[in-house]
Amino acid sequence: MSAHLTFRAAVPADYDAMVAVVDTWWGRPIAGALQRVFLDHFSRTSLVAERSVDGEPVQLAGFLVGFPSAADAEQAYIHFVGVDPALRGSGLGRVLYKQFFDLMRSQGRTVVHAVTSPVNTGSIAFHQALGFSAGEPVVDYDGPGADRVVFTRSLS
Ligand SMILES: CC(C)(COP(=O)(O)OP(=O)(O)OC[C@H]1O[C@@H](n2cnc3c(N)ncnc32)[C@H](O)[C@@H]1OP(=O)(O)O)[C@@H](O)C(=O)NCCC(=O)NCCS
Repeated sequence: MSAHLTFRAAVPADYDAMVAVVDTWWGRPIAGALQRVFLDHFSRTSLVAERSVDGEPVQLAGFLVGFPSAADAEQAYIHFVGVDPALRGSGLGRVLYKQFFDLMRSQGRTVVHAVTSPVNTGSIAFHQALGFSAGEPVVDYDGPGADRVVFTRSLS
């Protein structure tokens, strides 16, 4: 038996597989922040990693939902990244980010942003390992009680 990972651009139909796993993968209710609109309108710049094992259905291994900013021609934004807990720590998140960075560079983008909840210390460590700077938590960033850490990384 052999297993391997493949990578591709997302399509809108990937939404259902993503939203089905996010609460489990994040370890808390988070599905409300991943609405279908993100796959319907930003799938071409979002990424899917799939795990295939001989004789078994292909499974979602990881994904990244990101897009170029419509407000600033220099910027890009990563809204969600998730890796199957069984596959963490093996570089899959880093590969998804590298692919997104390359895609955004090819579209002339020079800066990538992302945000996370201050309680998500794993996400903060991951982004710092990927070269992002992390600001101090911004109080009420996403509305009352929704503090966020803002990440910034140059693509140059
Ligand atoms: C964050 C997440 C995507 C990382 O995926 P991953 O495939 O395990 O990450 P990688 O193996 O590519 O790790 C890349 C680097 O980040 C570091 N890192 C990743 N997760 C970490 C953690 N929880 N704590 C400390 N460092 C971490 C790794 O040590 C590695 O650093 P190195 O290359 O310098 O050794 C994954 O843990 C996840 O899906 N978490 C739940 C969802 C989430 O919180 N997403 C982010 C907010 S949208």
